[in-house]
Amino acid sequence: MIKKIDLSNGLRVSEVALGAMMFGTTTPEADAFGILDAFLDFGGNFVDTSNNYAHWAGSGDESEKVLGNWLRQRGCRDRVVLATKVGFDRHGEGAGLRKAQIVYWIEESLRKLNTDYVDLYYAHTDDASTSMEETMEAFDSLVKAGKVLHLGGSNYDTWRYAEANMLAAQRGWTPFTVMQQSFTYLHPKFEIAPKYIFNEKTNRERLRFLRDKDQPLVAYSSLCKGGYEDESRLPGDYIAGERLLTLRLMAAEKGITASALAIAWMVNLHRCPGFPRVIPLFGSSVKHLAENIRGLDLKLTDQELQALNQA
Ligand SMILES: NC(=O)c1ccc[n+]([C@@H]2O[C@H](COP(=O)([O-])OP(=O)(O)OC[C@H]3O[C@@H](n4cnc5c(N)ncnc54)[C@H](OP(=O)(O)O)[C@@H]3O)[C@@H](O)[C@H]2O)c1
Repeated sequence: MIKKIDLSNGLRVSEVALGAMMFGTTTPEADAFGILDAFLDFGGNFVDTSNNYAHWAGSGDESEKVLGNWLRQRGCRDRVVLATKVGFDRHGEGAGLRKAQIVYWIEESLRKLNTDYVDLYYAHTDDASTSMEETMEAFDSLVKAGKVLHLGGSNYDTWRYAEANMLAAQRGWTPFTVMQQSFTYLHPKFEIAPKYIFNEKTNRERLRFLRDKDQPLVAYSSLCKGGYEDESRLPGDYIAGERLLTLRLMAAEKGITASALAIAWMVNLHRCPGFPRVIPLFGSSVKHLAENIRGLDLKLTDQELQALNQA
């Protein structure tokens, strides 16, 4: 079962988050409803989407619309911590964090999601061409209007995220209290430049920063796109080798999959010095969801955590 945790910003979220990126495009609506129902039944509540998912496979409206249909049909809005985002391109429109864009896209998201508020609204990526004052004031106005409860930042350099929050503190605006970035058990090949500059994998400095600020890392693509089970799907910018072998051997001993142990490791990582609360965010079918959360019921000992950390 999935447990709930209390974040420092007051949100009570499940210890893992469900990615809705492909809902309505490669995942048909009926399947998406099944995944969402199962996630709630297992104890989950933290659901992640964006105003542009998945525009490379459709229009970019699909994911939010499917979620909106599900929320209306099930009448379960109060049981879900809903996160969406603004700032990335969708077919040549939408990229950027100017006030006009933020104010426009929240209305679009609320309409599609069939709700009058989102629990967490992320800047999907930094916009260095817009002043931080304009962006943070616009986000704050949404919180003051009750359309958004909390703010997060995704794909920001750590120093820019910190600057945004220093500015918010100076002006009395709402800060970012959740960071979302790519993170998993395997180490990335930092020598390989990310395909997109924003898409940088999480390094130790970012983790120490979040630990210091008592903020969580929502870890996207936390299952390496299915690569723990099928190495041919492992993105080329991860180091497999000894670390993957250690994960697989320990998973086999415990009778769970490597994906499930990777999730359990991330959930337990905050027990180690220098690591923040990590909330693995992943997309999965109902079958894989049931497998993926099996590690959450197991107790990972300090020795096991150390062995996984040091591999
Ligand atoms: N902030 C950002 O810029 C950003 C970027 C990317 C993603 N995200 C968010 O993160 C979420 C997840 O990211 P992602 O989809 O890129 O990566 P992911 O969660 O690492 O990978 C999803 C893939 O893993 C497969 N999978 C899951 N469990 C499996 C298992 N036990 N065995 C085999 N395959 C398994 C799924 O297949 P099945 O469907 O068949 O289970 C799916 O194809 C997205 O939905 C989105 O909400 C955010």
